[in-house]
Amino acid sequence: NKVVLAYSGGLDTSIILKWLQTTYGCEVVTFTADLGQGEELEPARKKAQLLGIKDENIFIEDLREEFVRDYVFPMFRANAQYEGLYLLGTSIARPLIAKKQIEIAERLGADAVSHGATGKGNDQVRFELSYYALKPDVTVIAPWREWDLRSREQLIAFAEQHQIPIAKDKRGEAPFSIDANLLHCSSEGKVLEDPAAEVPDYVFSRTVSPEEAPDRPTTITIGFERGDAVSIDGEAMSPATILTRLNALGRENGIGRLDLVENRFVGMKSRGMYETPGGTILLLAHRAIESITLDRGAAHLKDELMPRYAELIYNGFWFSPERELLQGLIDKSQDFVTGEVRLKLYKGAAHIVGRTSPYSLYDQDLVTFEEGAVAYDHRDAAGFIKLNALRLRTLAQRKRKMGL
Ligand code: ARG
Ligand code: SIN
Repeated sequence: NKVVLAYSGGLDTSIILKWLQTTYGCEVVTFTADLGQGEELEPARKKAQLLGIKDENIFIEDLREEFVRDYVFPMFRANAQYEGLYLLGTSIARPLIAKKQIEIAERLGADAVSHGATGKGNDQVRFELSYYALKPDVTVIAPWREWDLRSREQLIAFAEQHQIPIAKDKRGEAPFSIDANLLHCSSEGKVLEDPAAEVPDYVFSRTVSPEEAPDRPTTITIGFERGDAVSIDGEAMSPATILTRLNALGRENGIGRLDLVENRFVGMKSRGMYETPGGTILLLAHRAIESITLDRGAAHLKDELMPRYAELIYNGFWFSPERELLQGLIDKSQDFVTGEVRLKLYKGAAHIVGRTSPYSLYDQDLVTFEEGAVAYDHRDAAGFIKLNALRLRTLAQRKRKMGL
């Protein structure tokens, strides 16, 4: 029997790999994905080979385009933010990794899958809900919940005992935990655990500090088609290329830092620091193109549903009927969300400075303070207000009658 492990090539998942071999005596298959975390993949192959994995059991895949096209962009059509701020960079990556593990398991006839998330967090839930949704009879092995390696020293001792190479800087206590992909970089734990203490400078890896960003703004234009970004400054680009470009622009201008205390699905609060440079620009731009192309009723309905949709993704229910139903509605809302948005990036923030669309609902004739529009008669407004005021007046009369 075989187990397909989500393998990063790092120390922790290498320990898991050995632990699976020694504890379960099973054949381990490794799956390593490039999600834009900014690490080479070949070292992961070398490391897996070194740990005794046969070549035919090593799977490495560049998922950057699929990640942005089929996960990040659909989520951005909804303007999803968990608890008002978090752009869900880690949450949205887990279902894709899980899906690929299950595909490999099906192909090889493996009955088990495994991941390196701890027993205290959201990620275990996201991985495992996705596994079960795609392969109901799967066996899940979550080493962090099972083994008795309780401290860093014990982990290091296990690694040494099994000849797992340990980078010098990994010998000591890790200063904090990182999860990175093309959408964001998340840091949690250790030095970040006290929510009263400011995040130290060395934690930031994707953005310059706003103070050090250039004193001149950078102006860019993002083109949208049906709710998805398709170009920057008139140049058409693939989804992953666009996000990569926006990340570079955001980095230079110190955009997308977020220090957040959030509610984990498992019940505890946790403090994290996120850097989502490109995503922060993209969200603002997407809202701007929606502002001229979406009808009010559609826009407000979307905004009511957004927290629900964001929570589903945060809690790991990407592969659920309710997420898919909401996605259908959100996608349909984007039919006319096409056009261009101009932004200025400056010292930690992105600012909208203009938007255009062939489908714009914005009617200058209608809104102008000058006399003009035929579709709008000022006299209609008087009756409109009177009828809307009817209940308010009834209430006020009762209050007066009662002497309140
Ligand atoms: N709290 C974030 C989430 O649940 C990030 C979790 C992973 N981050 C990490 N540094 N290990 O989506
Ligand atoms: C982990 O516990 O593995 C990372 C944090 C989280 O999943 O919330």
